[in-house]
Amino acid sequence: PLPVARSVADLRAQVAAWKAAGETAAMVPTMGALHDGHLSLVRLARQHADRVVASVFVNPTQFGPNEDFDRYPRNEAGDAALLASAGCDLLYAPTVSEMYPQGFSTTVTVTGVSEPLDGAARPGHFAGVATVVSKLLLQCGADVAVFGEKDYQQLQVIRRLVRDLDIPVRIVGGPTGRAEDGLALSSRNAYLTDAERAAAPALPQALRAAAERLRAGARVADVEAEAIASLQAAGFGKVDYVEVRGAEDLARLGPDSATTPARILAAAFLGKTRLIDNMPV
Ligand code: PAJ
Repeated sequence: PLPVARSVADLRAQVAAWKAAGETAAMVPTMGALHDGHLSLVRLARQHADRVVASVFVNPTQFGPNEDFDRYPRNEAGDAALLASAGCDLLYAPTVSEMYPQGFSTTVTVTGVSEPLDGAARPGHFAGVATVVSKLLLQCGADVAVFGEKDYQQLQVIRRLVRDLDIPVRIVGGPTGRAEDGLALSSRNAYLTDAERAAAPALPQALRAAAERLRAGARVADVEAEAIASLQAAGFGKVDYVEVRGAEDLARLGPDSATTPARILAAAFLGKTRLIDNMPV
């Protein structure tokens, strides 16, 4: 069975032993309920380092008061078996009190890239992510850490914080794993009813169509409006955003936008479930 570290001290002892043997380490942070998108990151991590640590920690500080922290799916035994099969060497599964002991008072806030999109729709979310990811990276001391493009804004926030705080780790982004019908794999897909699951591929379809229209020269505002209309026609409820942004800073595109790499990002509700996705333009 896969070894499990529950404390920072155990994690550091294992990584130190690998380093003493001349081996490199990669970390893959997760909140568990693992699917093939997560496992693809573990396999990618394998290609970048001799050893792979995956963390499973459902981080309370990145959930809003009316979000799904309490009902977020948890299945450590199943996750451990999947991680072992994907070539992971160690599961780091700390408790909430190990991560946030009595008196914990520090928050990492990234301005700029964390402000629009999900930052606007989920106040405090990226501060929770930036704080826990800073801790995980500093606890582990891995040479490389792998994050998915599925959470594209999160990936850019993490790149920024690692640069700004001089955290000695190389950030690698992995491609979004999708179901055959195009829906991005997500632990939250488990919340969808059968009818919602059948409607959900309209999200990647809308983004793919939008990216094609932009490449054909359509105006950004028109394409965003068309994508929102197609989501509503497919049965989506509230659309938090569909926006075309600069691929790195996620700023609105300026007049020179034809030369800047861009990304189209979306978040929308299907019933009670909030889905996000994004694509290169
Ligand atoms: P979680 O949603 O469990 O995702 C863990 C990692 O898997 C993230 O880097 C995420 O982008 C990636 N991922 C999720 N679905 C994916 C897919 N379909 N294809 C490829 N990668 C995918 O993201 C978090 O947890 C948390 O915010 C965390 C970074 C662990 C901090 O708590």
